[in-house]
Amino acid sequence: GVVYRNGALGRRPAVPTAFGDLERAARRASSKRAWAYVAGGAGEGRTMRNNRRAFDRWAIVPRMAHGVTERDLTTTVVGTSLSSPLLLAPVGAGALMARGSDLSIARAAAATGVPYIFSNQGCSPMEECAAAMGTAPRWFQLYWSSDEDLVDSLLRRAEAAAAGAVVVTLDTTMLGWRPQDLNLGSLPFARGEGIAQYTSDPRFLEIVRQRIDAARNAVTERPDVTLGAIRTLISMTRNHPGRFLDNLRSPVPRAAAETLLDIYSNPGLSWEHLATLRDRTKLPIVLKGILHPDDARRAVDLGVDAMVVSNHGGRQIDGSIASLDALPEIRAAVGREPTLLLDSGIRSGSDVFVALALGADAVLLGRPYMYGLAVAGQRGVEEVIRNVVAEFDLTMALAGARSVRDIDERFVRPNPSL
Ligand code: FNR
Repeated sequence: GVVYRNGALGRRPAVPTAFGDLERAARRASSKRAWAYVAGGAGEGRTMRNNRRAFDRWAIVPRMAHGVTERDLTTTVVGTSLSSPLLLAPVGAGALMARGSDLSIARAAAATGVPYIFSNQGCSPMEECAAAMGTAPRWFQLYWSSDEDLVDSLLRRAEAAAAGAVVVTLDTTMLGWRPQDLNLGSLPFARGEGIAQYTSDPRFLEIVRQRIDAARNAVTERPDVTLGAIRTLISMTRNHPGRFLDNLRSPVPRAAAETLLDIYSNPGLSWEHLATLRDRTKLPIVLKGILHPDDARRAVDLGVDAMVVSNHGGRQIDGSIASLDALPEIRAAVGREPTLLLDSGIRSGSDVFVALALGADAVLLGRPYMYGLAVAGQRGVEEVIRNVVAEFDLTMALAGARSVRDIDERFVRPNPSL
C-alpha cells in the first residue's frame, strides 16, 4: 500500500523499481573498481547465474478467493523479532560504492526496521553503526581469524554493541577467484576499504605494533625495505590509536595490510573450532555458507541456533550449487525445527516468497541494497528494502497467504514452462 500511495502523491522514486534497471543505474553510479568488486562473482560467473536460474525453475501457484485482507509479515529468528522475513546481508568494503556506506545502511535499516548484519569487513567500526541505529536490531558477522584472541575481542565487541546474534561465515576462509578484481589488480583491503573492524580493535592494534617492532629490527639490517611506510604507520598509531588507517588517501602501509591478509581468516577452520564457540559467547550462533545436508546436520548436532544456506552471492566457488537448489534438501535433512535463512540471488519480493515456500524462515538481501546505496545513498537503501517488502506483501495477498508461517511448498511447483 505504502509504495502505491507514495506514487499517487507524486513523490518520485529515488531508485528504479525493477532490479535490472536498478543494476544498470548502480553501474553508472560506480567506479570501475567498485563495480568489479561488488557486482563481480567467482570465475566464469556460473554460480551467480545458477542463483538466478534456480528461481526461474519454480513457479508460484496462487489460490483465489481466499479472503485474505490483512497479512502478517512478522516472524522471529533466533530471538530477533522481524517486521518481515528479511535481513540485510553482511557486505564488506561498501565504501567503494559510497562514502559513509555502513552508516547510511545502518540508518536505512533502522528506519525500515530490517536488521543489519554488520560485516567483519565493514567500513565503520561496529560501535559507530550500532550508535547510528539506536535500539534497532543488528547482528554481527565474523570471519574466524587465525588469531584466537582477535576472535574473542570481536565477540566481546559484538556483545557490547547489542548484536542479536553472531553469524560465522564459513565459505570465505580464502578469497574466491574473482577475475574482475584480478584484472584491475585491486583488492579492497589494499586501499583500506573494509578494514574498520580491525583498525578499531585493541587486539589487532597490538598485533600490528608487535609486527612494527619486528619490522623495525629488520629495517636496521635492510633499511631499503619499507622504512617510509613503517614511519607513517608508527606516527599514525601514536596520533590516532584505533583509527590510524581511516581516512587515508595514500595506500595502506604494507605492514598493516599484510597483517590483515595474514589474520582475517583461518584456512584451517574446522568443526573443532566451531565447537568452542558456545562457551565463548552468549550470543545466538548462526553459521553462514551451508550448502550440503551433512554439514547442516552437523551444525544442528553442534547446537547452533540457525544457518544461512548461501554461496556468498556466487563470489567464492565457480560452478557451485545455487543456494535455492540446496535449500529443499537441507530442510529435509534437518526437519522442520531448525531455523534456516537463505541468500544468494534474492532480487524481489516474489523471490522471498519462493524461498520461504521451499523451506527458508527468512532471507538475506545482498547486492540489491548496495545498488540502492550507490544510486541514492541511505534513501536508496530504504527504497530497495521497501520495494522488496511491498512486493512480498502483495505476492502473499494475491497468492492467498495470510501469514509468513502459511507459506509452504503447496504454493510452488517446478516451472512447467521450462
Ligand atoms: C558480500 N558477502 C559477504 N558475506 C560475509 O559473510 N561477509 C562479508 O564481508 C561479505 N562481503 C560481501 C561483499 C560484497 C560486495 C558482496 C556482494 C557480498 C556475501 C553476502 O553476505 C551475501 O551472502 C550475498 O551478497 C548474497 O547474495 P546476493 O543477494 O548478493 O545475490
